Amino acid sequence: MKKQQENFSNWVPGKMIIIPGILGLICLALGFIHWGFWIPAILFLLISGYFIIAWIIFSSRFGNLQDKIQELVVSHIDWKGNGKVLDIGCGNAPLTIKLAKKYPEAEIIGMDYWGKNWDYSMQFCTANAEIAGVEKQISFKQGSASRLPFEDASFDLVVSNLVFHEVQDVKDKRVSIQEALRVLKPGGVFVFQDLFLLTPYYGTPEALLNTIRQWGVSEVEFIRTCNEPFIPKLVKLPFMVGTLAIIRGVK
Ligand SMILES: C[S@@+](CC[C@H](N)C(=O)[O-])C[C@H]1O[C@@H](n2cnc3c(N)ncnc32)[C@H](O)[C@@H]1O
Repeated sequence: MKKQQENFSNWVPGKMIIIPGILGLICLALGFIHWGFWIPAILFLLISGYFIIAWIIFSSRFGNLQDKIQELVVSHIDWKGNGKVLDIGCGNAPLTIKLAKKYPEAEIIGMDYWGKNWDYSMQFCTANAEIAGVEKQISFKQGSASRLPFEDASFDLVVSNLVFHEVQDVKDKRVSIQEALRVLKPGGVFVFQDLFLLTPYYGTPEALLNTIRQWGVSEVEFIRTCNEPFIPKLVKLPFMVGTLAIIRGVK
């Protein structure tokens, strides 16, 4: 019997390909009535084409870049493996499941707001955890990264991958970092990967680290993961993964 595969979905939502694709085709058709539609037709089709290529690069069936980027988070964790773990913005739980496999003694929670903008859901998370055989170790909870539904100092390890810049219910994207540190125990470990080199969101790395130190962490480090050689140039645009970095440390 064929082994069931987890569905981790793609960081490029289908609508980013389909909407410009349809608009491009409409403009193309209108181009036969008036030549002025040719330019928007070309632009829309180029955008759609770009996102098709990005989808292929990220996909587990082809470029597998999502998995490699999630592995970066795991490889930067320095933790013994006993205690409670939180994965903020877990999506369909690829990172949550990696952590469960690496730390079989840990109790892991994956949380996300699972909004309409993405093809992710708690049902997919539960099904993926079952397929991976780690369902007993993991539970899932809905909530927002800007206001985590957990008490202060609840977790021994807190991780997050490519989430904080997406949080829409607060203007200052740093609020979610502060919130993630709030639920971490003193002495607990954190590894956050996001578009931390996007200065309009986070300021300079130096200023960001100073702010984080003021929130009471004992160790913090900035790692430019966008320089990893396996990341293709084509997806190194600032809002893709061209501004990717890790902030890690100990509270
Ligand atoms: C690029 S996906 C990353 C998902 C997952 N961390 C991964 O590595 O595949 C961004 C995730 O952020 C989540 N997200 C967006 N806003 C959020 C919020 N306010 N609170 C929690 N999660 C949020 C989305 O639902 C989505 O799962």
